[in-house]
Amino acid sequence: MKEVKVGIIGGGLMGREAASAFGRWFALLDMPVKPVLYGLCDLNESIFDWYRQVGTIEVFTNNYKELLNDSKIDVVYVAVPHNLHEQIYIDVLEAGKDLIAEKPFGIDENACETIIEKIKETGRFVRCSSEFPFLPGPQRVLDYVNSGKLGHLLEVKSGFHHSSDLNFNKPINWKRMTKFCGEIGVMGDLGMHAVHLPFRMGFKPESVYANLQKIVKTRPDGKGGTADCDTWDNAILHTTIAQEDYTVPMTLEMKRIAPSETNTWFIEVIGTEGAVKYSTKAPKTLWTFKQEEKAQVWQQEDLGFQSVIPSITGGIFEPGFPDCFQQMLGAYFLEREGKLGEKFGCATPEEALLSHKIFNAALESAKENKVIGF
Ligand SMILES: NC(=O)c1ccc[n+]([C@@H]2O[C@H](COP(=O)([O-])OP(=O)(O)OC[C@H]3O[C@@H](n4cnc5c(N)ncnc54)[C@H](O)[C@@H]3O)[C@@H](O)[C@H]2O)c1
Repeated sequence: MKEVKVGIIGGGLMGREAASAFGRWFALLDMPVKPVLYGLCDLNESIFDWYRQVGTIEVFTNNYKELLNDSKIDVVYVAVPHNLHEQIYIDVLEAGKDLIAEKPFGIDENACETIIEKIKETGRFVRCSSEFPFLPGPQRVLDYVNSGKLGHLLEVKSGFHHSSDLNFNKPINWKRMTKFCGEIGVMGDLGMHAVHLPFRMGFKPESVYANLQKIVKTRPDGKGGTADCDTWDNAILHTTIAQEDYTVPMTLEMKRIAPSETNTWFIEVIGTEGAVKYSTKAPKTLWTFKQEEKAQVWQQEDLGFQSVIPSITGGIFEPGFPDCFQQMLGAYFLEREGKLGEKFGCATPEEALLSHKIFNAALESAKENKVIGF
C-alpha cells in the first residue's frame, strides 16, 4: 500500500481524533493508500507526550513553518482556531502540500474566498471536514431522497445541537469569542455540519430569515475574573429552496445551548408520498414514512455498519463519531488518488463558500430583521 506522510497543525480536540483515525487505518478495507502521521505542530508542547504514543511522528514542533518546510510531508490536516485558518491554509498550499481543512474554512466569507483563490493558483487538493454524512444513517437518507420516493418535496430540517454551553459557569475558550471564532459564531462552529448533506441533495437556499441568540454575555476567564462572551450561541435559519413551481422551507438549526443534547446531528426530509429522518440521538435508527391504504406509517429500521468505505467491522455493529471521522478521511485520500468513484465525497471548498454566503445573509437578516435573498 502506498504511504502518504501527513502533518497535523493544531493537535487539540480534532488533531487527536485525526491521529487516532490514521492509527487504525487497517480498519478500512481495499484502500490504495495509507496516511502515516509524520509531523505534529502545536504551540502547546505539553500535548506532545500524548502524540509520542503514535509511534510514527518524527517531527514535533511549535512552529508550523518547520513542518511545512519538511519535504517528506505531502498532506497537512489543520485544526486550529478560525482566526488562523486563512494564513495557515494559504501557507500550507504555498508550501506545495495538499490540505485537509477544518470548517468553517476561513473565519468569514472573505477569508474563504482568499483561500479558494490560492487553491486555484496552486492546484492543490483541498477538502473541508464534515464527517456526519459518512455515517450509515445519513447515507440511507441520501439514497432515499435520490430514489424519488418523496413525491412532492414539502419540507427539510437539518441541524446540529449540543449543550456544552448550558453551564453558564463554564470557563470561556476561543470558540466563544468573536475575534477567534468569527462574527458568524455558532454558525461557523456547527453550520457546515447542517448544510453538507442538504447541499448534496441539491437543496441550496435562495433566501434566509435568521433567529440568532446571544444568551451568555460573560463567562469565567479561568483566571479568577470574567471575560466577554460575544458570539452567537444559537441560530435558527429559515431558508427557502426552489422547486419547479413552488418553494420549500428548509430549516437549518445550530445550537450550542440545547438542553439535553450532547452531539446531536439530525436531518428530516418530508414529501407528499414519502419521508425520511435520522438523528445521531438514536444512531442506529432510520425512520421512513409511507402512505398505506388505510394508514400513514412511520417505520423504524435498525441500521448496522454499512459504511461508505468497506471496513473490518461486522455489518450488525454500531458506528460512532470516530468511525465517521475515519470514513471521511478515507474518502479524502481515495479522492486524492482519483479513486473515489461513486462514493460520497468530503465537503468541497465551493460548498464551504456557499455556507459562508448563507451565514453572512443570516447575519444581515438578524440585523435588519428581514428576509435576505441571494
Ligand atoms: N469536524 C468536527 O467535528 C469538528 C469538531 C470540533 C472542532 N472542529 C474544528 O476544528 C478546528 C480546531 O478545533 P478544536 O476543537 O480541535 O480546537 P482546540 O482548541 O481543541 O485545538 C486547537 C489547537 O490548535 C493549537 N494552536 C493554536 N494556534 C496554533 C498555531 N499558531 N500553531 C499550531 N497550533 C496552534 C492550540 O494549541 C490547540 O491545541 C476548528 O476549525 C473547529 O471548528 C471540527
